[in-house]
Amino acid sequence: MAKKNPEPTILPRERAFLVGVELFQQRTLLPLEDSLTELALLADTSGLDVVGELTQKLDRPHVKTYIGPGKVDELKALVEETLSQVIIFDDELSPRHQRELQEILGNNVRVLDRTALILDIFAQHAHTSEGMLQVELAQYEYYLPRLTGQWTHLERQAGGGGGRAGSTGGVGLRGPGETQLEVDKRAIRKRIAHLKKELEKVRAHRMRYRAQRKRSRIPTVALVGYTNAGKSTLLNRIARSEVYVADQLFATLDPTTRRVELSGGYQALFTDTVGFIQKLPTTLVEAFHATLEEIAEADLLLHVVDISHPNAMNQAEAVQETLDKIEAHHIPVVTALNKVDRLRDPESAREAASRFSKAAAISAVDGTGVKDLLRLIQEELYETYTPIRVKLPYQQGALISLFHEAGQVEYVEHGRGGVLMQGRIPGRLVAQFTNWQVPNDHREITEEV
Ligand code: GTP
Repeated sequence: MAKKNPEPTILPRERAFLVGVELFQQRTLLPLEDSLTELALLADTSGLDVVGELTQKLDRPHVKTYIGPGKVDELKALVEETLSQVIIFDDELSPRHQRELQEILGNNVRVLDRTALILDIFAQHAHTSEGMLQVELAQYEYYLPRLTGQWTHLERQAGGGGGRAGSTGGVGLRGPGETQLEVDKRAIRKRIAHLKKELEKVRAHRMRYRAQRKRSRIPTVALVGYTNAGKSTLLNRIARSEVYVADQLFATLDPTTRRVELSGGYQALFTDTVGFIQKLPTTLVEAFHATLEEIAEADLLLHVVDISHPNAMNQAEAVQETLDKIEAHHIPVVTALNKVDRLRDPESAREAASRFSKAAAISAVDGTGVKDLLRLIQEELYETYTPIRVKLPYQQGALISLFHEAGQVEYVEHGRGGVLMQGRIPGRLVAQFTNWQVPNDHREITEEV
């Protein structure tokens, strides 16, 4: 890995210009204006100063330049006028769009998109070896088809991460011409292969750890939510732990697990997870699949919603969409409508709560409603679970997995014809298992199974 020059302690913030497009055919979660506000927050988190924005309504993106040619001229003039150094499109640009735009707009300004920005923020916030590998992989996969020689990315902001794609460390992204470009591409492909292997190793380690945790039979609760909803603050409050909290997007990137005492001697393991966002880049969802698997394997999801945010419901929907993508929709959910201390009208939280099947209005900061929330969690984990004992033939592989994934397994015995399982499953799943139920005092397990 090439040695990096020492970085200045305080980097001057670069001037960024935002571009948003509303496509008539496309269903979006947020209105254009709100999506741009969010993009501005992302830019700020990434260390940029937003100096202006431009929008356009289109039937479909322009083939070459995403926005129409007239708008490109307008953008060019505005960028010059505002002395912008970076242009950020709110949607992911294809490599071709990016190239064409870069060519027209010249080398004094870098053309980026929301995905590049999110990748950059992830690169700055990943701390565990797995998180760092995942982000680096996602970055290289994103940049590989976009390498042009002048595509130098958010190089200056990706501070601290020697060897990350964002810091172009070691692979010479800025080759002078085609030949160099080819060399770079080969080096990147090699690096991608290496990263994938490394990730496999880390994952294998984590799987063992997870299996151990499963054996401990303490149910797990995964905190999910839109970025900045207050997940870490809530985890700190209920576990009295010191998880990093910041009014920044994606402050938490790596899962953190804490044991929490519920009342009556019950316990649960709470895992803080990466914040979601609308238009979460697919490369990232893929790269973070292993981390997100933590969510898909949880016994319960605690969905934290910032109810004081004007787009709270859309944000909740964006979270739901990501949960669907990672196939976590079968897991029961308790919703925490957070930041009620910020509401002028507390009644609105109660109204919102009625829209969710199990929700509590809370403030992670002053503790309002947290007891009620924990009671809901306890009910969901321990009281709505039904004890069950079943003898499942091996052909019922799906049910066996379902018991493992959604239930709390207390006892398993493998026999010739099938597997005897005992434990607790969520009430809603009982019907699927009734055909295979055996009485609790069933003793001749080994012979019969
Ligand atoms: P990501 O790491 O981006 O996923 O964020 P997160 O969901 O973990 O949010 P975090 O706990 O870092 O909180 C984000 C900001 O919201 C911080 O400034 C918190 O102090 C603030 N916050 C969290 N909960 C509350 C609350 O109940 N009331 C108020 N007023 N602020 C809160």
